[in-house]
Amino acid sequence: LENGVARTPPMGWNTWNTFGCNISETLIRQTADAMVNSGMRDAGYKYVVVDDCWFNPNRDSAGNLQGNPSRFPSGMKALGDYIHSKGLKFGIYQAPLDKTCAQYFNAYPGATGSRGHEVQDARQFAAWGVDYLKYDWCSPTGTIDEQVRTFARMRDALAASGRQIVFSINPNSIHDKTGPRRNWGDVANMWRTTEDITNRWNTGQTNGYPMGIQNIVNVTVPLASYARPGSFNDQDMMEVGRGGMTDTEMRSHFALWAIMASPLIAGNDLRSMNPATTTILKNQNLIAINQDSLGLQATQVSNDGTRRVLAKRLANGDVAVALFNQGSGTTTVSTTAVAIGLSGNSFTLRDAWTGQTSTTSSAISASVPSHGTVVYRVARS
Ligand code: GLA
Repeated sequence: LENGVARTPPMGWNTWNTFGCNISETLIRQTADAMVNSGMRDAGYKYVVVDDCWFNPNRDSAGNLQGNPSRFPSGMKALGDYIHSKGLKFGIYQAPLDKTCAQYFNAYPGATGSRGHEVQDARQFAAWGVDYLKYDWCSPTGTIDEQVRTFARMRDALAASGRQIVFSINPNSIHDKTGPRRNWGDVANMWRTTEDITNRWNTGQTNGYPMGIQNIVNVTVPLASYARPGSFNDQDMMEVGRGGMTDTEMRSHFALWAIMASPLIAGNDLRSMNPATTTILKNQNLIAINQDSLGLQATQVSNDGTRRVLAKRLANGDVAVALFNQGSGTTTVSTTAVAIGLSGNSFTLRDAWTGQTSTTSSAISASVPSHGTVVYRVARS
């Protein structure tokens, strides 16, 4: 979406994966502090996104949304001010129909979705200092045309609000009815490609609930041509640092989100990260690949079912290449400079994890553990 924001994949944090409905202004403030103190902000993470369950279950007498007064006693404007005072940006969640997802599943009372209130709600968000709206189609019904019309109403309301707001949508809860995925770049800055993520490597889903890391990548790889500055396929909030996977799988998860130009929205508790998690999330080589100004998603070079190679062209002429082992044992994953679109006689490979460099005349390969991903930044030398 050409609205001036999200020229590179948005980076930040979201409450949902760890806290679900159990959120408060104390949690958000502590997390904003932790984003600064852990170095996450300076590594590029900017958006602090308050997901479902922040609101009063009833609108006020003028029809305005309100924060839940016991969870957010200082109010949403004060929360936004606090987040901004830390050099961060404020994100919030809402739904386009009558109910948010937690309301739909009766995990939270009320029915305060934006249907029929789009202009009023967009103005409200702007008045609170919101910089990012996650807008979640939580309904098993609808058609693709209805989704486009409904999401576009909020897109236009945000544009008219006078504030630049990243528009993040989840159109995917009716994927079984809408058939082939649409390129949502005319409607939103980022759109979910699958049902909800979970902290497992593989749940066996092709696009149902819940999706593992490998399952999401399988869905998103064919959508590479949709990614560009302002418009990105969203592989969902990350599960790095949330247990349930090996360290190799956690690193692979982050590497694959980075090279796929997915938004990098952390989903772990930033107040209690261990050093291994911080090291993964702050990897500057991978963040630079993700945030490259061309805004391209990696395209598939090869996939034999076990060994998968993905390559992402970068603004300075380098190419990032992911050597991904989907199998159950260590194996060598290989490609060549020509196969990833580089010509020449000599190349430097910089390993994004170790920082080590090596040179090659053509072959690009690595021994990769099960479920691991080695990423090289390949430059002509
Ligand atoms: C849906 C979304 C999740 C989260 C929840 C909140 O399941 O896909 O990311 O926002 O709703 O209820």
